[in-house]
Amino acid sequence: MADITTDVLIIGTGPAGSATAALLATYGLEPLMINRYRWLATTPRAHITNQRTMEVLRDLGREVEDEAYMFATEQDLMGQNVFCTAVAGEEIGRMQSWGNHPLSRAEHILSSPGRMNDLPQTYMEPLLFKTACSRGAQSRMSTEYLSHLQDDEGVTTTCLDRMTGKQITIRSKFLIGADGGNSKVAEHAGLTFEGKMGVGGSMNILFECDLSQYVAHRPSVLYWVLQPGADVGGIGMGLVRMVRPWKEWLIVWGYDINQPAPQVDEAFATKVVRDLVGVADLKPVIKSVSTWTVNNMYATTLSNGRVFCMGDAIHRHPPSNGLGSNTSIQDGFNLAWKLAMVLRGQAGLGLLESYQAERAPVAKQIVTRANKSIEEFGPIFKALGLLDSVDPVKMQQNMDARCDDTADAEQQRTAIRQAIANKVYEFDAHGVEMNHRYDSKAVVKDGQPAPAFEKDPELHFQPTSWPGARLPHAWLFGADGGKVSSLDLTGHGVFTVLTGMGGDGWVAAAKALSDEFALPITVHKIGPRQPWQDLTGDWARACEIGDSGVLLVRPDHHVAWRADDAIADPKAALSRVLTTILNR
Ligand code: FDA
Repeated sequence: MADITTDVLIIGTGPAGSATAALLATYGLEPLMINRYRWLATTPRAHITNQRTMEVLRDLGREVEDEAYMFATEQDLMGQNVFCTAVAGEEIGRMQSWGNHPLSRAEHILSSPGRMNDLPQTYMEPLLFKTACSRGAQSRMSTEYLSHLQDDEGVTTTCLDRMTGKQITIRSKFLIGADGGNSKVAEHAGLTFEGKMGVGGSMNILFECDLSQYVAHRPSVLYWVLQPGADVGGIGMGLVRMVRPWKEWLIVWGYDINQPAPQVDEAFATKVVRDLVGVADLKPVIKSVSTWTVNNMYATTLSNGRVFCMGDAIHRHPPSNGLGSNTSIQDGFNLAWKLAMVLRGQAGLGLLESYQAERAPVAKQIVTRANKSIEEFGPIFKALGLLDSVDPVKMQQNMDARCDDTADAEQQRTAIRQAIANKVYEFDAHGVEMNHRYDSKAVVKDGQPAPAFEKDPELHFQPTSWPGARLPHAWLFGADGGKVSSLDLTGHGVFTVLTGMGGDGWVAAAKALSDEFALPITVHKIGPRQPWQDLTGDWARACEIGDSGVLLVRPDHHVAWRADDAIADPKAALSRVLTTILNR
């Protein structure tokens, strides 16, 4: 007999675990999350928060979304990505990033009701955790996962209560391993991986110091310091990252992974800060120092039976592109509704297999992208002549050469410009963040071919209602002057039918099936004199169906199925699709 029973046990209260618990609790379940420590993240690791993540927070409720924006640094202050010899030193170049280039900003605004922002993990985690707990999730801190055993009915997990030193057992129908990059759950579940751990070493130095005079005129999240000697291992150069403008900072500084992790004392940390900021008598207050390894590994299986892993447990990569916590939260958005429907008896166990089919390609994509982004610093080093010598004097001369009035120097300046511009794949890769198109049994495509990407799919988001893609966003208007995003009409743990003025057949079919399947289905008919109208025509252009057609949208905003026009037996068609998707 287990000490504790729950439907879903979640190991870890990081972005993945807390988001999943918040979603499950919002859907009416009472998951239990545990954390081996007494509290949440104490260092502001993740920070870049992309639009897709903000859509998840919006789905959790406006109060959650509003609180995130309240604590976040806004997009306007994120975007002058600076490359310099020191923060107070010479600026070599900059690129507008994170949706701050006017063209990119337009694409962001058109894509989503959410805004990219900078929300440190020390704010995001408590927000998600609080949301989970206040809506019915249980949490148990100072409780360490040790092992698990599963059978046909559920999973028995053994944990250590670190306050009493005693072992406890927890019986659950499902176990989620959201236990980070060194996941024991993934290991014990026998998940398979590709890639390598520990390909570089980095240290974080968190400090307080008012640097406004050096940065406020070129507001940015990231100040990259290229100076001889700053490129040891890890992330490849010195990085001064804004945590709170412009007084709290995190330095990311590499160390040689082939050597033991350095013991960094206050004096050493202060020297690194002074070197990278470029002010010899700067008086930073060092708050903490920690080391971490750069990984290049993704899971090729995400689950085993009743055990599912998510977040860094299945994608382990450097912070480049700021995708880690974002993807972890989005893993939760994919799995939570499926678990809820299976637990409520609305769906068969087979629905859960789609988690693997849908999220494994994302894990591979982001790990590959983040590691490629590190490599893409190479051309900047090369153009500056930092790779031609290990002698700091010679390296400095090579950098200085770009200021000459010679053909070689002009070539060097061109190479520097191009290499910096190419970093758009790290600092403004909107497509990587938003273009997820799922292909699994939880999507019914009926043979419709994928629309080809018209622009670079890593850089540009291309909305489509092709089944498997995330529903396109368009603003819709109410008679009382209010407006909602098309995404707002969907989600919240239930399926949604969206149709137009000729869609009465779909409306009736959805209502009948909702009763028959004991499955709430939200229905919206969009058009003149309806609660939500497409006054601008943006929805008509985005939805890619006629006024008599239908979009069936999953609780995670992804299109499950679509029909362009009315058909003879809409109920039979919707029934077929829902039966397939829900594995009933
Ligand atoms: P995470 O590691 O956060 O949490 C794991 C949880 O499991 C913790 O609560 C831990 O205590 C718990 N746990 C582990 N083992 C356990 C056990 N045996 N028993 C009980 N509990 C256990 N990402 C991003 O999206 N944008 C960004 O800008 C950045 N920037 C960034 C900068 C730097 C310097 C770093 C190091 C990392 C980032 N990241 C990022 C990455 C981001 O921090 C990371 O991807 C997320 O924290 C992953 O969230 P998870 O919830 O998966 O794991």
